[in-house]
Amino acid sequence: MINWTESLFQKMERKLEAECGRMGERIPYRTVNGIYQEDYAEKDIYWWTNGFWAGILWQMYHATGKELYRSRAEVVEVRLDRALHGFTGLHHDTGFMWLHSAVADYRLTGSEEARVRGLAAASVLAGRYNPQGQFIRAWNRENVEEDENCAGWIIVDSMMNIPLLYWASRELKDPRYYYIAKNHADTVKKTLVREDGSCGHIACISPDTGESEGIRRGQGYSEYSSWSRGQSWILYGFALSYRYTMDQGYLDVAKKAAHYFMSNLALTEYIPLCDFRQPQEPEYRDASAGLCAACGLLEIAEHVRDEEKNLYRKYAELIVKNIAEKCCEWNPDRDSIVQQCKVDYHSTGAQHTDLIYADYFLTEAVLRLLSKDFLIW
Ligand code: GLY
Repeated sequence: MINWTESLFQKMERKLEAECGRMGERIPYRTVNGIYQEDYAEKDIYWWTNGFWAGILWQMYHATGKELYRSRAEVVEVRLDRALHGFTGLHHDTGFMWLHSAVADYRLTGSEEARVRGLAAASVLAGRYNPQGQFIRAWNRENVEEDENCAGWIIVDSMMNIPLLYWASRELKDPRYYYIAKNHADTVKKTLVREDGSCGHIACISPDTGESEGIRRGQGYSEYSSWSRGQSWILYGFALSYRYTMDQGYLDVAKKAAHYFMSNLALTEYIPLCDFRQPQEPEYRDASAGLCAACGLLEIAEHVRDEEKNLYRKYAELIVKNIAEKCCEWNPDRDSIVQQCKVDYHSTGAQHTDLIYADYFLTEAVLRLLSKDFLIW
């Protein structure tokens, strides 16, 4: 008898192969009436999620060896060149965009063109570093509506982008990228992670002095709350920073965030609320946060003693199993797998939705559980 992860993988494959057939060269983000109808390369080439479809495809290529996945992923990578060359629309999420496309390609195939794309993206990210404040600035001036008076944004999402810098540092044997990533991680730890393992989404940092001017609400319920996807960025992001630096303080943050996350899951069937401190009604949930956290828990499990591993792995399995049973659409005639995600707490039009990165983290989590994944971060 095959076990539940293997049968999940088989369902995933059936679905993703069918999606590949329908997608052609397009880059998906969310479905409309159960079908990917838009092409984000046309709609917004700079959109932060534009790498995740390629990430799914490279993970599946690695796990199955099927050329269909590879050829589709290569097309996405080439299409993203317009963003790299366009330059002015680029932002703090270059890691999400190019780790999953060009760097994944380079890691699996050794393509020199892909390597150069990854290095160019890393230089863009490094170029956003403010040495005075020791942080990588989020967004660009013209995108920021929330607080006109703040010129130095730092966000928890960045923790999932800086692995691009650790990669470039090793690739070029140049410690500059490493120190930028590490200084930035230290600033995130100092300004956004709270004592109890919860975190804020955005901190405003003075670009001239590096002083924190406080936490802002961002995608969570309030500046005092705990946006679950942000929690998962911290949990997984600090575990990854530990992988690259061996700084024990980062693993401690990842574990603290993990224990906080795990303790918030039992009341909602292991499917996280959108914000762990949101009002009781409406009960928004966000499966994408759970799946990213599951991958982070499996990452932590790789860095702790045998006696501790089981706890993190067990929770990762509980999250994946519950989401696969309760929040997924497995019909291969419809696009997107994970439903019941939320873009952010306050955006009313975007709840109980699918999101391409939820499918990415489901893919990574299932492949991690089967030891068929490769490290994309
Ligand atoms: N990086 C933005 C988000 O998590 O929605």
